Amino acid sequence: MKFSSSSPLRGCLNVPGDKSISHRSVMFGALAKGTTEISNFLKGADCLSTISCFRSMGVDIQETDQTILVRGKGLHGLRRPDHVLDCGNSGTTTRLISGILAGQDFDVTLTGDESIQKRPMKRIIEPLSLMGAHILSVRGNDCAPLSISGSHLHGISYSTPVASAQVKSAILLAGLYADGETRVTEPARSRNHTELMLASFGADVKTEGTTAIIRPAKELFSQSIQVPGDISSAAFFMAAALLVPGSEVLLKNVGINPTRDGVLRVFRQMGGEIETVSQTSRAGEPAADLLVRSSRLHGTEIGGDIIPTLIDELPVIAAAACFADGVTVIRDAAELKVKESNRIQAMAENLTAMGADVTETEDGMIIRGGKPLHGAVIDSRNDHRIAMTFAVAALASQGEVSIPQWDCVNISYPAFLDDLRSLMG
Ligand code: S3P
Repeated sequence: MKFSSSSPLRGCLNVPGDKSISHRSVMFGALAKGTTEISNFLKGADCLSTISCFRSMGVDIQETDQTILVRGKGLHGLRRPDHVLDCGNSGTTTRLISGILAGQDFDVTLTGDESIQKRPMKRIIEPLSLMGAHILSVRGNDCAPLSISGSHLHGISYSTPVASAQVKSAILLAGLYADGETRVTEPARSRNHTELMLASFGADVKTEGTTAIIRPAKELFSQSIQVPGDISSAAFFMAAALLVPGSEVLLKNVGINPTRDGVLRVFRQMGGEIETVSQTSRAGEPAADLLVRSSRLHGTEIGGDIIPTLIDELPVIAAAACFADGVTVIRDAAELKVKESNRIQAMAENLTAMGADVTETEDGMIIRGGKPLHGAVIDSRNDHRIAMTFAVAALASQGEVSIPQWDCVNISYPAFLDDLRSLMG
């Protein structure tokens, strides 16, 4: 795919449903009693992997144009799949499903694509094993494939070394099946969609500071879920509208949960004009229409507790920082190295190829903004967020940006090109 500099972006966009919330709506719907109806579900490859795993365990899931219907089996109604569960490229599927499988009464093996088989799973193997789970990395390298034999689980009090909603959620989901209270304390607060949604399904879950606490559940009850737009997808169009002179874009119904809204805070801190036009809230998940106007940006420092609230947006924030006046420093973001690709390296190498002044550090990068960027061939490493980030960077650069491995955008945003074209008129 090829991109080059753009005329002003104008118009209004409904970004697709939130990926994290879409995954959870299918998983919790599958474990509930009754039929869960989900609207604005993200039909990206990652969430389709979750659907396919639960179908393999006997859950009836129907897709229509507008909604997904999940006919729940109850907490103890899943059946042993007759093949290896394929989680595709999805870390959320792999880690959350492991927490659920730990408490079943059958054995299963799960795996995923080349990238998933390199991502660290010790972070879930360790706490789930402490709960009594039998979970093993088949190749002994602490990565997938994982073999999980359902067992009797105990509640634990666990402190995670990194802030990770996937790890926290795996432990909380196992906690549904445990014989006592389970507590997970994080170094900083990660996204809380699991806690909010499990509570709406009737689970006894609460939060104290950076600790999430769950008590075992007898039953979960089906819900009607309206998934808000994904702020991680909206971030590409926020950046594009901020960077391309003369742009004005209204992004509708974007989820702005405070554990996810770091990108808004950082862009505003950099001088970005982003106005919250109207706000709603459903099942504790706030959403807003955001009016974004092209702005002159300046550099900033990003580190500490804000990092988990914008971890997936750091690639596009780093790209935007190349067009800002002054220096931007990103620190405390070593987690970027273990995402779908090593995103610190992917950003530093590709931005440098476009002429940017970027230094890779152990836990982030230093970007000296203001150098004009030019065309290049981008190595997306088959990472959806890297591919879309460089499509955005191209819109404000001179020359042609070519992204040969483009299809990976289907992981989280199959309609990205259509949506971009709609704003280009
Ligand atoms: C996610 C949590 C984050 C995020 C990922 C989705 C989730 O991962 O990067 O895209 O849905 O829980 P970590 O838990 O590894 O931080």
